[in-house]
Amino acid sequence: MTSQKAQFITIEGGEGVGKTTNVAFIRQWLEQHGISYVASREPGGTPLAEEIRTLLVSTRDESVDENTELLLMFAARAQHLAQVIKPALAEGKWVLCDRFTDATFAYQGGGRGMALEKIAQLENLVQGELRPDLTLLLDIPVDQGMARANGRGAPDRFELEKLSFFNAVRDCYLARAAADPARFRIIDASQPLEQVQQDLARVLQQFFDCIHE
Ligand code: TMP
Repeated sequence: MTSQKAQFITIEGGEGVGKTTNVAFIRQWLEQHGISYVASREPGGTPLAEEIRTLLVSTRDESVDENTELLLMFAARAQHLAQVIKPALAEGKWVLCDRFTDATFAYQGGGRGMALEKIAQLENLVQGELRPDLTLLLDIPVDQGMARANGRGAPDRFELEKLSFFNAVRDCYLARAAADPARFRIIDASQPLEQVQQDLARVLQQFFDCIHE
C-alpha cells in the first residue's frame, strides 16, 4: 500500500443512521488493511472550524439567516480543507470524513430549500476540483432514524427541525446518490448492525480492489 493515490472517503446520512458506530468500524477496516489515514468530521475538524460548528449547532433566540448558515458551513470547510484534508492527501494519507459537501446539498439545499446552484458555486470556490473519491451514504427511513436519535440528550439546532425537513434531506441525499453512482454507495442502515457492517466491508473491499487494478 504505497504507490496508490491517497483516497478521500466521506460518510453521509440523516439523523440516527449510526454514523458514529460505523465510522469506528471503517477506521478499524482501514487499520486492518494497513492504510494510513486521517479521520475527521464536518462541520469541524480544526480548532477554528470546531468553533464555527458550535456557532452552527447551538440553539439561539435569534433566527439564523440561511445564507449565514450556508457561508458558515463553507467557512468551516475552507479551514478544514486547508489545515487537514489537503495536507493529509498530499502526504499520501487517506482521509475519512464524517460528512462533507453532500451534507450541505442535503441539509441547506434539500432541508432549507436553498438553490442547489448557489451551493455548487460555493463548492467550486472553496474546493476547486477536489471531490470525495467514495461516499458511503447510510440510509434509513426518517421515522426510524429519528426514533434512534431521540433520547441522546438536548437536541441541537438541526435536530429540532421537523419531519418534513428530514424527509427533504433524505430525498436530496438519495437523488445525489442516484445521479453519481460511480462515487456513492448506498448502505441500508435499517438492517441489523452486523449486516450493515458486512455491507460496508464488502463495499470498501470492492473500492480497494478497484483502485489497485
Ligand atoms: P453531525 O450530525 O454529523 O454531528 O452534524 C451536525 C449537524 O450539521 C447535522 O445536523 C447536519 C448539519 N450539517 C449541515 O447542515 N450542513 C453541512 O454541510 C454539514 C457538514 C452538516
